[in-house]
Amino acid sequence: MLKAFDAGVECVGILKGWKGFLENLTIPLNIAEHDDLHTIGGTILYTSRTNPFKGVESKEEKAKEIAAKFDELGIDALICIGGDDTLGVADLMYKHANAKVVGCPKTIDNDLAGTHYTFGFWSAVQLASDAMDNLTTTARSHQRVFIVEVMGRDAGFLTIYSGISSGADIILIPETPFSLERDVIEVLKKRVKAGYKYHIIACSEGAYPDKDSLKRDFKTITQETIDKLPKDTFGNPVLPALNMSQVLVDELNLRDDLKEEFQENGVDFEIRSVVLGHTMRAGHPISFDRILGLRFGLAAMKLVLKEDFGKMVSLQGNQITTFPLDEGVKKKYLTPDNDKMELRDLLVKIRYLSKQ
Ligand code: F6P
Repeated sequence: MLKAFDAGVECVGILKGWKGFLENLTIPLNIAEHDDLHTIGGTILYTSRTNPFKGVESKEEKAKEIAAKFDELGIDALICIGGDDTLGVADLMYKHANAKVVGCPKTIDNDLAGTHYTFGFWSAVQLASDAMDNLTTTARSHQRVFIVEVMGRDAGFLTIYSGISSGADIILIPETPFSLERDVIEVLKKRVKAGYKYHIIACSEGAYPDKDSLKRDFKTITQETIDKLPKDTFGNPVLPALNMSQVLVDELNLRDDLKEEFQENGVDFEIRSVVLGHTMRAGHPISFDRILGLRFGLAAMKLVLKEDFGKMVSLQGNQITTFPLDEGVKKKYLTPDNDKMELRDLLVKIRYLSKQ
């Protein structure tokens, strides 16, 4: 908006994402009232999970139909702010109807291929890291195992970053399906033997066991439980519905061998789950996200002024650059060569090994 005002361009806000675009829900955006938007969290435009392409036969026809809204709403260009779902719709509109769209990557999940970081991510990492730091107080006092469920749908960025940051003792992410026996039970046993009295497990809401472990080690869920999960409006399985942190509590409570190990080492066997959930999409953004949001906004407006559409703005290293939407909206996951994976494994292992 700063750049738009400077260039003499009038801004209109579309309310509730794609829903508002389809239903003509708009508000004027007055720069005098909104010149410090980067300092507050959330969005004054509201948001919704609406997929205009859901169930349509011809994406081309639908894209053209939606693109006609530009004239109806009296807008020349549209800056779409969101994650893979929101920007995926923008990509289809550009591809099939040559719509004048520019993407701006915003999601706490950081799972967009076209940028190193999305804005919102680091604020959520900080919230989750602080929450796990704080939970050690009660975990230590009560000598408990805390299984903390961290948002992130099907990518593990939020969990691995906040888990490493807060020094979590076990970190479970969707990219590396876990073995209950090897990655949880065995580690807890080794930690208890090494003298640890409390444990924090950072568990992504999208973490799930590998097929062998699911069959062999689990008593309370099966493959069918996972297959039957509901799907969201974009067709993604709603993994949080599984409530993996509670599943783990139930499974661990069924393990007499683990209980005995704790008791032999003079520690009570008590396990609790905490779902951080929407507390991670809350509060004030940290400075990194405020500045990244402003930098993205500036770059997005420059694309509009140049009439360079079908692109998204992107952070590569410390440089703001642009990326074709169709490449950029693809999902990004942690890969085995990522140094955070190595750090996670070292953090977990070295703790108990160093005390033996
Ligand atoms: O914004 C993405 C995300 O934060 C995911 O990490 C999480 O699974 C999902 O949103 C929760 O969505 P909702 O608020 O619609 O339940």
